[in-house]
Amino acid sequence: MSKKGLLYKYPQNLPITAKTPLFTLGEGDTPLVRAPLLEKVVGCQELYFKLEGCNPTGSFKDRGMVMAIAKAKEAGSKVVMCASTGNTSASAAAYASSQGLETIILIPEGKIALGKMAQAIMHGAKIVSIDGNFDQALNMVRQLTSRYPVTLVNSLNPYRIEGQKTGAFEIIEVLGDAPDFLFIPVGNAGNITAYWKGFTEYHKLGKATHTPKMMGFQAAGAAPIVLGKPVEKPETIATAIRIGNPASWQKATAARDESGGLIDMVTDDEILEAYHMLASMAGLFVEPASAAPLAGLLKLARNGHSFAGNRIVCIATGNGLKDPDNAVKSAPMITKLPADLSAIEEALRLG
Ligand code: F0G
Repeated sequence: MSKKGLLYKYPQNLPITAKTPLFTLGEGDTPLVRAPLLEKVVGCQELYFKLEGCNPTGSFKDRGMVMAIAKAKEAGSKVVMCASTGNTSASAAAYASSQGLETIILIPEGKIALGKMAQAIMHGAKIVSIDGNFDQALNMVRQLTSRYPVTLVNSLNPYRIEGQKTGAFEIIEVLGDAPDFLFIPVGNAGNITAYWKGFTEYHKLGKATHTPKMMGFQAAGAAPIVLGKPVEKPETIATAIRIGNPASWQKATAARDESGGLIDMVTDDEILEAYHMLASMAGLFVEPASAAPLAGLLKLARNGHSFAGNRIVCIATGNGLKDPDNAVKSAPMITKLPADLSAIEEALRLG
């Protein structure tokens, strides 16, 4: 196998014991891609996107899930459970199925992107769709997993955070140091927590000279941390981060404050603009939530913040193919013609 996987690559940095079953679906080691046209727009020296959509199930969740499922198996668990806006459930179902474990997922009715739904179905998860939002689903999952012998694999599970911190390790390994800024979407706030843990750990080990400022972005309709209070009815086109009461709220604000960064919000229009710019100016098709970091960066740049001389990394958390509906909905034009060469030549004005 060409890719060794995170459990094999970072045994010293992860909670792995002699009894932990090691396995991989090929997670981690994702590309860090530079976007020169967007660098010009932002006015920074170097702008990179970490393509977490290149993980086996198409999102960053696989980093944490490989660790969480390995530990669940080590503990003798037979069933895992999560609430999800889609990616966690896809990842849990894939990783659990590969180890012979059963997966139960609770999802908000009608608010899961099509590709994510297809994944959970194909990997054989037991799917319960509730007439409620993610926060309500997570609340129920917490209660159920405390009552029954079922392992919770949301990011409240500390092994998820441990696995996800490896994204920060990889950035430092590729760049040779930490970037100046790390831009990241914030939903349930596990990933910003994990990246901060990874950066501080590698800094302590002497692998980086500094830590980055952590720049988290929520969707304006689902921005509890920015508003300073839970949002009862979160709404956003970026369904992955449609969350009103993040489980790792305090850890996210700690990451913000300790790093000297910020947590701000971006509107759905700003998210959609960045979503299109990433696809049309950087060749990167991400899902809407994954465009929130660039939307935030553009917002700050437009408001006069200078990034001159800075090296910036944005986490592209999920693959654009997960949410084909949003992409097709926003299609500006498709020309329909008869199968006639001259009609096509005329319409395209190639000559
Ligand atoms: N980007 C994507 C594509 C996500 O799926 C999520 C979270 C986030 C960003 C935010 O990360 O929650 O760690 O702050 N998705 C979860 C899920 C909630 O159920 O798939 P976070």
